Amino acid sequence: MKTIIEPFRIKMVEPIKLTTREQREQSIKAAHYNPFLMRAEDVIIDLLTDSGTSAMSAKAWGAMMQGDESYAGARSWYRFRDTVKDIFGFEQVIPTHQGRAAEHILFSVMVDAKSIVPNNTHFDTTRANIEFCGGKAIDLPCTEADDLDSSYPFKGNMDIAALEKLVAKEGAERIPLIMVTVTNNSGGGQPVSMANIREISRVAKDAGIPFYIDACRFAENAHFIKQREPEFKNTPTIDIAREMFGYADGCTMSAKKDAFANIGGFLCTNEAELAHRERNILILTEGFPTYGGLAGRDLEAIAVGLREILDEHYLDYRLFSTRYVVEYLRDSGIPVVAPAGGHAVYLDARRFLPHIEPLQYPGQSLAVELYLEAGIRGIEIGTVMFGADPHTGEEHPARLDLVRLAIPRRVYTQSHMDYVLEAINLVWERRSDIRGMRIVRAPKFLRHFTAHFEWITS
Ligand SMILES: Cc1ncc(COP(=O)(O)O)c(C=O)c1O
Repeated sequence: MKTIIEPFRIKMVEPIKLTTREQREQSIKAAHYNPFLMRAEDVIIDLLTDSGTSAMSAKAWGAMMQGDESYAGARSWYRFRDTVKDIFGFEQVIPTHQGRAAEHILFSVMVDAKSIVPNNTHFDTTRANIEFCGGKAIDLPCTEADDLDSSYPFKGNMDIAALEKLVAKEGAERIPLIMVTVTNNSGGGQPVSMANIREISRVAKDAGIPFYIDACRFAENAHFIKQREPEFKNTPTIDIAREMFGYADGCTMSAKKDAFANIGGFLCTNEAELAHRERNILILTEGFPTYGGLAGRDLEAIAVGLREILDEHYLDYRLFSTRYVVEYLRDSGIPVVAPAGGHAVYLDARRFLPHIEPLQYPGQSLAVELYLEAGIRGIEIGTVMFGADPHTGEEHPARLDLVRLAIPRRVYTQSHMDYVLEAINLVWERRSDIRGMRIVRAPKFLRHFTAHFEWITS
């Protein structure tokens, strides 16, 4: 069969509240034109994030009923730990309530004011946690990532020459770890090749620097490797994932992505002494090392989700459904990051709204317009998110101005995606009338979550 179907049936549904344009105008104004500040009920198709928004399976819900809520040494902990070890292969597993808690603990023990941490592209919480510990977060995306149209298959790769140059210039003493984010969320959800992971590992090993993977979307990345890197076309995706982590010294993970869980995360390392220090912080901030901020039922759900996410029929469907949207947009001449990534569609707001300067936040304007048009909630990934130095407050245009439409796992059907495409088309047709925005109020760190905006009138 040529038609790729959702490889699941739906047996529980949630109604969507349909709204009028007038209602949406009031809702977004009340939220100060920041989609993060809206009531979710006022959204028709919620593409704010794929994080924690997945539909869990009957099996995962069933496992939750078996959660062992003992404070220490719960059965659910051992199930969780053994599953993580089996797939990720690290010796030490530290459960956290979500990905950023794992990052915070990792950087608290490894990063100080002299530190520089390179990554293909840091996600916002990763960057903010490094900066919070006094360090400097550096993005080294491959040069192919700049060409949003090219069909280069691994635009999530790190620029190895730039990494080698950085290591030679700064020295291993200033670089406590090298990270790579799979898939590269802030760089368009693009995958990282196994060849690139091997090269990063080589540079790290030669310099004696630990190599960590930000593993949030590891299964999508592994399946892209299967589809796009000829060496792996007959390798089971789970073995590709195991090989990816085999090159690393540790990882951070948000189970809210590629584990189908609504909450959860973990931090892994092979070093017992480092893990000991990390667990001391864990006890202070998250909880006892056998639950780390999670209920026993959450540990159960994650253990099931980590297996389900590696189902290749699911991954075929997942990558296909994102490609379906991207290819339609591309064929319609609407600027979109190509080729399709795994978890999201990224509209290129700078080219969609070329008359709006980066410092007037074209991505924010486009996100607001999509909501006004059809109740679709996406987010800006661009100058609002990355354009301010938290220490000096100075602003600069980000490398890209994108609107991310993240697709929750197993939640929306093809007709929902057709509705989204129709809405994007309608906004595209009236794009020259769309204005830029200004920030009225914003905090120093992670400003995009809570900033208030208004339209520029002149
Ligand atoms: C690449 C990446 N790293 C880290 C995180 C942080 O994870 P969490 O939201 O669970 O704290 C995210 C969340 O979206 C992410 O996409």
